[in-house]
Amino acid sequence: MFIKNISYIKNTKKLFESNSQVLEYQKEIKNGGLIVIKNLFEKKKINQLKKYLIKIGKNSLPEYHSVKIGAPNHHRLVDNDPRSVVQCAFHQFSFYRWNQDLMNIFSIFEKGFWIKNILSNRNKDDFLKIKTNFKDNFVARISIQFYPSGIGYLNEHSDPVGEHQISAPLVVMSEKGPKKDFSTGGSYFYGKDKKKLFIEDIANVGDLVIYDSSLPHGVELVDKKIKNNDWIDFKGRWTAVLATNKVEGNQSIRDSIDLQKK
Ligand SMILES: [Fe+2]
Repeated sequence: MFIKNISYIKNTKKLFESNSQVLEYQKEIKNGGLIVIKNLFEKKKINQLKKYLIKIGKNSLPEYHSVKIGAPNHHRLVDNDPRSVVQCAFHQFSFYRWNQDLMNIFSIFEKGFWIKNILSNRNKDDFLKIKTNFKDNFVARISIQFYPSGIGYLNEHSDPVGEHQISAPLVVMSEKGPKKDFSTGGSYFYGKDKKKLFIEDIANVGDLVIYDSSLPHGVELVDKKIKNNDWIDFKGRWTAVLATNKVEGNQSIRDSIDLQKK
């Protein structure tokens, strides 16, 4: 299936107040529509956050932690690791609600989780409680991903949707174009003409993009013409996924499926 329609929302007030509006957008998402919420997040905050993460990324060792209640915030580097469910190369920074951090990162993105929850027929604050509950099967995780130019990609895949989420929305954090953060590649879906539809071509920094995450999508190698890049320059593409993940060991929801793996 491919993206049939793109809707732009400038004012989210109605989404919080009107049930019929919610139903309309749910229908749209289920029918393969893409919803772009304009300027939901402050550009200034996003730029501060990127600077902060670059310092962390350059000066501390990446480490792996599985998705668990009480897990620490951390960053990890995935470089074509055969253990990945979906093959990829990117630098990922994960934040959980129960940890405190210098940027108060959940306050930057919480509006996105509220909208996602409402559209998923959940309570606005679901998965966002500060207190850890070891009985929870799902957790909210802000997954910020950096794709270095000439290196970063994510194979085409389908993510699980279900009672926990209608979508795993994406935050646009980089500008695409000549002399911008990156110039080719990035997150894509398939448009009506079955050609790749790139997110940064239809949305800007600070926008939230909501879509049916079970539809095929991926990240095409960012700046494929650049051959001499490395991970530590932090030149490339940033994005954030407002994820609601199953905790390790939860069998009720399927894993993501890599559609390119042979
Ligand atoms: Fe995905």
